[in-house]
Formats: sequence, C-alpha cells, structure tokens
Amino acid sequence: MEIRVEQARPEKYPCELLLLFSFESPERLEGPLQKVDSEWKGFLSALIKEGDFKGELFECRLLHSQGALQAKRVLLTGLGKKGEFDLEKWRGASAKAGQFIQKAGFKHFTFGLEKFSSFSEEELAESFVTGLLLGIYQFNEFKTLERDKIQEIRELVLLTETSQAMSVIQEGVRRGKIISDSVCMARDLVNGPSNTVTPTALAEKANQIAKVHGMEIQVFEVGQAESMGMGAFVAVAKGSQEPGKFIVLEHNKDKGLDTIALVGKGITFDSGGISIKPSEGMDRMKDDMSGAATVLGTLQAAAELRLPLHLVGIIPATENLPSGKAYKPGDILKTLSGQTVEVISTDAEGRLILSDALTYSLRYQPKAIIDVATLTGAIVVALGNYVTGLFGNDDPLLKRIEEASAKTGEKVWRMPLWDEYLDDIKSDVADFKNVGTRAAGAIIGAIFLSKFVDKIPWAHLDIGGPGAIEKERPYIPKGGTGVGVRLLLQLLRDWK
Ligand code: BES
Ligand code: ZN
Ligand code: ZN
Repeated sequence: MEIRVEQARPEKYPCELLLLFSFESPERLEGPLQKVDSEWKGFLSALIKEGDFKGELFECRLLHSQGALQAKRVLLTGLGKKGEFDLEKWRGASAKAGQFIQKAGFKHFTFGLEKFSSFSEEELAESFVTGLLLGIYQFNEFKTLERDKIQEIRELVLLTETSQAMSVIQEGVRRGKIISDSVCMARDLVNGPSNTVTPTALAEKANQIAKVHGMEIQVFEVGQAESMGMGAFVAVAKGSQEPGKFIVLEHNKDKGLDTIALVGKGITFDSGGISIKPSEGMDRMKDDMSGAATVLGTLQAAAELRLPLHLVGIIPATENLPSGKAYKPGDILKTLSGQTVEVISTDAEGRLILSDALTYSLRYQPKAIIDVATLTGAIVVALGNYVTGLFGNDDPLLKRIEEASAKTGEKVWRMPLWDEYLDDIKSDVADFKNVGTRAAGAIIGAIFLSKFVDKIPWAHLDIGGPGAIEKERPYIPKGGTGVGVRLLLQLLRDWK
C-alpha cells in the first residue's frame, strides 16, 4: 500500500472515503471530527448526541455524505474512553478501521491527522501506520483460486494542515512502514510451510537482506559447524536430509559501535525427532522458526532505520526429524562451549542448537545477548498465548526490555532463574541433561541456556505462546505474528 502525506484540510478534500475517529460520548468534538461536522451542518454531532454512534472502542460506522462534503463517504471509528486512550488502543483502532475498509473493497482512503492526546504527531503517525499495516496483513501466497476476490487497499492519503506537521508526520509514516514491513516479512516466514521455508530458504532470505542493506553475512554448512565443534547443532541437523545452515548476519560490522547479539531459534519443522510428537497439531511445528524470523525482521528494520549499533544476528537453522542418522535419547553431545549434554528427549532440540549459537555469540564480546525462541510448550501453560516469557541474568537489561514492552504493547512477563532449578538438569554421565522435570518446564529450558552465556548480560524470550496464534487480536491476524520484532526494535532504538 502506498502512503502519501499531503498538506490539505480533510473537510475540503475530495475523496472516496474519509476516515475519522471519535472518543466515546465526547463532550465536544475536536480536530478533523469537529471540522467535518461543521462542514456537514452538525450531522456528526447529532448522530453522536442521539447515541447512534457511541464511539466505543473499535466501533465502525460507514456514512454517506450525499454531496454535503467533498468526501463521498465517512468512516467513523471509535477510540473508547478518552481517559483510557493509549498507543496500543490507537494501533488497534487503526487496524480495525483498515480491516473494515479493506473488507468493504475500498482501494483508497484519506485520513486527516492532527495532534490529539498527549502523544506527538510523529508517534501518532508511526502507530497509526503500524496498526493499520499490521492489521490488514494477509497471507495469500499459496491461494490460487478466486484471486480476484482478494481485497487490498492500494493507497492512503494522510492529510495535515501545516507544513511543519507535514515533515514530522512523514517521518512517523516512514518509521511505521519500515517497522510493519519487517514484522510482515517475519510473519510471511512463519506462515510459510516447512517445505518452502527450509533452512536453505532462511539462509537465502538472510543473504537477500544482507545484499540490500550492505550487511556482512556468513552461512556455515553442517560440515563446517562440525569442524568448529558445534556438536549440539550438528546432532540435531543430522537427522534430516534437508541441509542445516548456521547463519550469521552483521549490521555495522567493524565500526566501533556497541555490539548486541540477537539469537533466533530456526527449527523449520519440529517433529520431535526420535522422541516424536503426537501427530495431532504437529503441523503447527512449522512455526518453530519464529525466533529466527524475529531476528531477521529486527535486523532488516534496524538497517533501514540506520540504528547506530553493531548487531549480530545468529540463526541456527535446521529441521528436527527422526531418521537412521538422527540423534537419539541417551546420546551425549559435546557442545561448542566444551560442556557435554546427555540427550533425554530429542524434542528438547531448541536448547541444543541455541547452546551452540549462544556460545558462538560470545566471540563478539557483546554488550548484551538476546535470544528469541519458541522454546517450550510449558510457557504456554504458564502465560498463555499472548505473553512472552522473559528470563535473564541481568536486571538492567530485563528492565529495558520491560520498558520496550510497555511502549510496543508486546507483553512480556518476568520468570525466575533460581539455582534450585539447576539440580533438575544435572546428569549422571555428562555435565547436563537437556530435559529436567515436567514441572517448571519453561524455567528449566531457560536455566539450560543460561549455562552457555558466561557472564555476559543475557535475556531469553520464550515466544512459545505468542509466536503464532489461533485467535486474532486487534492488529494481529491469526497465524504467524512476527512477535518480538517491534519489542527488540524499540529496545535497540532506545539503547544508550
Ligand atoms: N518447539 C517446541 C516447543 C513448543 C511447543 C513451542 C508447542 C510452541 C508450541 C520444543 O522444541 C519442544 O518440543 N519442547 C518440549 C520440551 C520438552 C521435551 C522438555 C515441550 O515443550 O514439550
Ligand atoms: Zn521440540
Ligand atoms: Zn522446537
């Protein structure tokens, strides 16, 4: 969708459809709503006063101006109670309006943005565009029938009255577009099936991003990973015919900037391996590369936003399948760190490939390491589908992530990493086991990872719940969500 910013008054602008927002039962109309209302001889205020449009959060009402306005139609969208307004509701309302417009088959619409509430025009523009573009996302790549029925909005004209506001809004639009395009790229990767989104395809995507943005990239084959000593990654990768790839992507290499390592779990299909999963619901395990998608999305947007940081994206990518070459319960693996792991379940493969990726990240001496992984089903039991489990060894880093969470609406909840849990993964025959008790499964997964980051500030985001969802949310359609991209970008934008 193309987004243009123009200097004009919404009540005087000829268009097919003009979008307006209203708080719930407002005492008096403000901004574009008020201007359009007076142009329309009080039609909107009467409608609201009579209670025919209440302005409840996400309420949508399409009106025909019948020649009374330059706009042929007006879409009114509710923002809910004024005192409860925040950017999360704003993103949601923008998404709901966009979905209404898209469903109704409109190809163009217009929206007048003026400062309201305590947020700046730039913030409002960025969040409007983010909510809108994320809300109208569709994954149609594999639909061949009735393609003509697919509705897509082609153009939005954003109006503003002063030239000063114009440049500010343009900047907000630019950022909103970069961020949502990267989230949508991550969603596409998660929604893509494992027969097309293979480790090779992830490496190609990383290559493409590197090329467009002048990043450094290295893609190690399984043989090379073996020579380097990545016994855990290699063990998982060996069970599949589909070649595994260990991907390292760098933004702003060798520029003397602070280094942050982002590590993403890239299991393109998790069958469980020899410890095979029940077949019901196994199709969802194509989502097990959501962490990798998040890291790729974050790096792409960080490059487009020219963030002054050295970012290292590390993605161990492989399938987890049973075969004659697959690793087996009871096997003992030597990880890149030198520590050994007894395999109890081949279905706890994420922590194995991540252990080598985390160790690998240490060579960059990063200021922080953040891994993103659909690591456990246990985190879904603990926190549900909309919340990311947040673990780590460094309070200031975790606080920064919580601040980014509050700004972006991507919810995180802090989980403990007390030493008591460590007993559960002590092995009789190796340094650790890859599985402890069923109880506290998400914490035990995180405790395992903590053994591979030395003393570097580290955070682990378990996105087992929100990586892909089955029930849509205001600006997150069902399927792959791209969760974590906006959270990490916010963290990186605020990094000092
Ligand atoms: N990819 C799964 C975790 C998962 C399951 C994420 C369902 C999202 C939804 C992971 O590799 C796994 O299988 N974990 C096991 C660990 C267990 C064997 C200790 C799990 O959570 O059951
Ligand atoms: Zn698994
Ligand atoms: Zn997995």
